[in-house]
Order: sequence, then structure tokens, then C-alpha cells
Amino acid sequence: MNSAEATSGPSSSPIIQTTALTKVYGSNGAAVHALRGIDLTVDRGEFVALIGPSGSGKSTLMAILGCLDLPTEGTYTLDGRQVQGLSGGDLARIRNEKVGFVFQSYNLLPKASIARNVELPMLYAGVGRKERRERAMTLLEKVGIADKADKLPATLSGGQRQRVAVARALANGPALLLADEPTGALDSKTGAEVLELFQELHRQGNTLLLVTHDPSIAALAERKVEIRDGLIAVAGEAQLGGEEEDLMSSPQPGTHRAEHHVRVGR
Ligand SMILES: Nc1ncnc2c1ncn2[C@@H]1O[C@H](COP(=O)(O)OP(=O)(O)OP(=O)(O)O)[C@@H](O)[C@H]1O
Ligand SMILES: [Mg+2]
Repeated sequence: MNSAEATSGPSSSPIIQTTALTKVYGSNGAAVHALRGIDLTVDRGEFVALIGPSGSGKSTLMAILGCLDLPTEGTYTLDGRQVQGLSGGDLARIRNEKVGFVFQSYNLLPKASIARNVELPMLYAGVGRKERRERAMTLLEKVGIADKADKLPATLSGGQRQRVAVARALANGPALLLADEPTGALDSKTGAEVLELFQELHRQGNTLLLVTHDPSIAALAERKVEIRDGLIAVAGEAQLGGEEEDLMSSPQPGTHRAEHHVRVGR
């Protein structure tokens, strides 16, 4: 189930729409074709797990979807805005406005307080000091660590740090929340608590894309998208050598249907 109606804006256009997205690192003999033609649609309010073997292109795709990097070719529309071909400054602005990113390694500023870490994206967005602090405190309450607001990151546990990272990711009310192995550095109990937080954010209508190696985590999502060798793999399709697993569980009645396709012969 999802609660897209909680946040749906004026349009019901997808949050993510990519066509024939490619990414090539390096050039000529040293070129690495990390993405080879990704068509992906993620609707507002969906919770999608991105899975696939190491080196298949998951983080590369997340970096492009999160406007940290640009594709080599193809198109990407994020919440109605065309992203491909943007300059660095415009890309950074869209990222700050529309994307919240949670990394395995938290990526908090070590010398800034917890509240200050959460305020930072709002500072970049031009939010005034008083409102920044109020919003940061509301978000820290939401993730259950308001009492740590004045502490430094080093004094927090891994699970607490990841909660700060989630609060920071939510700072500017992003259209899209991306998480790359967000529980990879946590013990299973703490990881489960952070996952519960993501599920709660999904219930509140947020659009979530989460990379994981862990099938039990992927099972929490509404939909699984598997990447293999820079392409999206679809259950039952033989051409990618997928023999065994049921890659995509059947969509639940009344939820979004899978809308991605394999591109063959590119
Ligand atoms: N900056 C880079 N320069 C050159 N090649 C890169 C770069 N980043 C990634 N690659 C290559 O692109 C391919 C995809 O890498 P990517 O990090 O996206 O995989 P991944 O699916 O996230 O793997 P993992 O599960 O291990 O995190 C790999 O072959 C990798 O070596
Ligand atoms: Mg990765």
C-alpha cells in the first residue's frame, strides 16, 4: 500500500522517468560501460528496492538519479524537471531542492552539531536561521533523537547517526529519498530500526528508492528492480541469463504496476 495522496502535487507525473540512460566511465580502451540503457519509471509514493550483484551499476544509477552525476546519454526527468545536460550549478540546486540522500557511511560533518548537520541543506536553500533551527528540531523529533541536537556526530551510535542522516535528507522536503545500503554499517537490530523509519516515511507518502544486497530488506519494498551488468533485469526474461529467482514479486492489488523494461540489443 502507499499513501501517495498524502503528498501528490498538482500533477500525477512520475517522480523518476529515465529513458535509455547510459553511463560510461573513462574512454576508449579504458571505458567502463556502467549503465547500458536504463528505462525506469518510479511513481510518486512508491517504495522501490534496487538490487543486483556488486559492480552491476546500482550506485552509478543512484548518483545520477540523485543529481550527483550526469548520464553519458539518455534522458532523466525528476519530478517534472529535465536533468540531462544541466550545468553543475543547476544540478546542485535541483539536488538540494528535490533529493534527500542517505549513504551507508552517514557522511555527517564531524565538527558540526547534529542540529547544524540537519540545517545545512536548508542553509544552501536560503532558509532563515530561526526557521532552519525549528525545522531541524521537528525532523530530529521525527527520527527520535531530538535530545542529541547539540551533540557532535562522534558521540552518537551508528544507528543514531543514520537517523541524523535521514533527518538531513528530509530537510528540504524532497520529492525523492534515495538510500544506498543505508543499513550496511549497522548491526541487525539497529538496521531494523532504521528500516522501520524508512517504512514509516513511505507510509507518510514519501517516494523511496533503496539499494540493498539483503533479500529480507528488499522484501520490505513494494517493488524490486534488479540491475545486472548495467541493465534492468525482468523476472522471466531469459536473455540476461537470469535462471532462478523470482526477481519481482507480483504487485499488490491497487498498487503501481512495474513499469520498467529491458532494452535488448543496444
Ligand atoms: N568513478 C568511476 N570510475 C570508473 N569506473 C567506475 C567508477 N564508479 C564505478 N565504476 C565502475 O562502474 C561499474 C558499476 O559500479 P557501481 O559502483 O555502480 O556498482 P554497484 O552495483 O553499486 O556495486 P556494489 O554493490 O559493489 O556497491 C563497476 O564496474 C565499477 O568498477
Ligand atoms: Mg554500490
